[in-house]
Amino acid sequence: MNRSQVNAILKESDAFIRSFGHILPPFAYWSPERMRAPDAADIRARGLGWDITDYGQGRFEELGLFLFTTRNGTVEDLQRGRGMLYAEKIMITRTHQLSPMHRHTVKAEDIINRGGGDLVIELFGPDETGGIDRAAEVVVPCDGTLRRLPAGAHLRLTPGESVTLMPGLWHAFWAEKADCLVGEVSTVNDDRTDNIFEMPIGRFSEITEDEAPVHLLVSDYP
Ligand SMILES: [Fe+2]
Repeated sequence: MNRSQVNAILKESDAFIRSFGHILPPFAYWSPERMRAPDAADIRARGLGWDITDYGQGRFEELGLFLFTTRNGTVEDLQRGRGMLYAEKIMITRTHQLSPMHRHTVKAEDIINRGGGDLVIELFGPDETGGIDRAAEVVVPCDGTLRRLPAGAHLRLTPGESVTLMPGLWHAFWAEKADCLVGEVSTVNDDRTDNIFEMPIGRFSEITEDEAPVHLLVSDYP
């Protein structure tokens, strides 16, 4: 996708998030130069900040997701079993904009409808090799209650509702009725290594630099 499109999505996403009374942390508004400074090394290393992806396919409206990582622990803490073992993101999924079928090996995540339209999540369990089991029932915790669903069910979360997705569980999601503000509270998150997609696609966008970046994306840090 073009940098001009990324810049436009940054602006409209910030306005959408603010419309719910949710405000991003100060580093969201740092210039590219500020974000490249030595004292921002920890923010870059943890992968905090803007993350706009079309999964490398160039069709953001149909296949894409807006994310902003607000906090993220470290793999070292995770291996030690104590410390900052958690992460948090705020996301926007648009009506009928697909976040494609994927699973995580390490990360457990709560996906939360923070407001707007309905969030619809398609779910499959893993088979013995980690692939998609198209027959087995799926059992997921939803706000303190276990829900039993047939394979491939479309779990509909209205504003305020959430689901816990454990590692290995296959999921894809999109919004219906209106664009949706989505929260994610999870285990330490490494998006470079912990996303396994059903389709042969990437996790990040390929950017064509047709104008200067307003803010860097997480994928611009390396
Ligand atoms: Fe996920």
